[in-house]
Amino acid sequence: MAQSFFITTAIDYPSGRPHLGHLYEKVCTDSIARWHRLLGETVHFSTGLDEHGEKIQRKAEESEKSPEDFVNEMSKHFLELCKTYDISYDDFVRTTEKRHEAAVDDIFHKLWRNGKGDIYKGTYEGYYCFECETYYLERDLTNKKCPVHGKLLLKAKENTYLFKMSKYQDKLLKHINKNPDFILPRERRTEILSRLKEPLHDISISRTLFNWGLPLPIEEAREQEKHVYYVWLDALTNYLTTIGYPDSKYKKFWPALHIVGKDIIWHHCVIWPCLLLSAGIELPKTIFAHGFIRTESGEKMSKSAGEVVDPAQLAEKYPIDATRYFLLREFPFGEDGNFSEEALKTRMNSELANDLGNLLNRTMVMLGKYSSGKIPEGETGRKLQKALDLARIQRHMKSLELNNALAEIFRFVAAANAYINETEPWTLVGKGKELGNILYSLADSLRIISILLSPFMPSTSEKINSQLGVKAGMLSDAKFNLLKAGTKIGKAEILFRKAE
Ligand code: MSP
Repeated sequence: MAQSFFITTAIDYPSGRPHLGHLYEKVCTDSIARWHRLLGETVHFSTGLDEHGEKIQRKAEESEKSPEDFVNEMSKHFLELCKTYDISYDDFVRTTEKRHEAAVDDIFHKLWRNGKGDIYKGTYEGYYCFECETYYLERDLTNKKCPVHGKLLLKAKENTYLFKMSKYQDKLLKHINKNPDFILPRERRTEILSRLKEPLHDISISRTLFNWGLPLPIEEAREQEKHVYYVWLDALTNYLTTIGYPDSKYKKFWPALHIVGKDIIWHHCVIWPCLLLSAGIELPKTIFAHGFIRTESGEKMSKSAGEVVDPAQLAEKYPIDATRYFLLREFPFGEDGNFSEEALKTRMNSELANDLGNLLNRTMVMLGKYSSGKIPEGETGRKLQKALDLARIQRHMKSLELNNALAEIFRFVAAANAYINETEPWTLVGKGKELGNILYSLADSLRIISILLSPFMPSTSEKINSQLGVKAGMLSDAKFNLLKAGTKIGKAEILFRKAE
């Protein structure tokens, strides 16, 4: 049976339209999911929306809509974003769905255990940032400002149900120490370990100060103050909802590889594991934290900070795969990066239009001219074969170095271009088998390049395939000399046009 692989993005707040930061996370996760499909694994890739909470309620009020109408409208933009950018999710979870409520209630009951478990009633006092939907302790703040949004926070106090997170500190520490890949990259792991040197506090898991949330499923909480779930307990559980929890079929895919931004690692690396430990559910395989996409001037792109790049507008100006390629290639996965259209254009013009586009175009033109539009008999030259380091690409993908995997694939593209320049096929017309071997080598290499690029640039890969006249391949087809001689090639077309 094929190995199963479960990967998730965070679920976005639909408090405004999606921006490039949201897209970045989806494109990276999509490429990893597609890579695992290429390996023949059974993949479940989930993304979605975190639709409850005070922030959404306030935004809905501002636009004079009910929260339901507001999120329904916003959700269209996120779904459209996924469609436009070829995000191949298997499930799009919305926390307002009935199936999700069933999963959250089940988790609650596992923690509550009829009042004998890890949840107790009390009051909670702390500094509340409604942008993060998170209570902070004074020690986490500088000048009483939110560490993520930089806004001045006020002390809030409410009656609440609390979760005994402190009880799980030692178990969590042991798990992190025993599993070096539980939190990646390393810097984030170090950060969490250092924060865990301080004692863990119990956390509030219900709210009474607003009502846009799922109600706690116990009579006493409904009768007195109408407690709704703390939005993070609600949101984190989406990772179980999507694979069918509470039905035991969820075990087919659990545990997950979570891809999230570095601003929400505490929630994913500490709160989520403690909730799971209490519920008796296995911990996630890995939480990988990526960096922030910043504006040209270096500000984190976010709706609350103001300046954002709208991916829908970008899609009108640049080919989808150019933006995908840029996001994946430009920023080492795990680090921050500044986005600029100039840098996108430079990469598109040189690497996509010049290097990849010209390789395909020159090959197609020569196949048409010297081989009557058919793949000739031939064998791929040893030297060119050696220029492809497939093992290295696989290693990069295993350690989620997406930019390095792409760099390695493009090293092979460069080698194929150099091979044309060195062999000068046009001088060999009518001089025996050598020309056939060269043209075969080029077409065979492009077939492999197309397979390797398919997770990152799916529609470009399809275009290369249809020009070469071949079907989409799996990673096991990325071997030389599998191209069938006699295959009729398709129509030659420009892959990427240069931008001014
Ligand atoms: N709803 C919570 C996540 C709950 S997951 C159980 C949330 N939503 S968010 O809309 O604020 O962010 C969604 C994801 O997008 C997060 O992983 C966040 O880090 C990421 N990004 C938001 N802005 C970003 C950038 N400017 N750059 C890269 N990713 C960033 O947090």
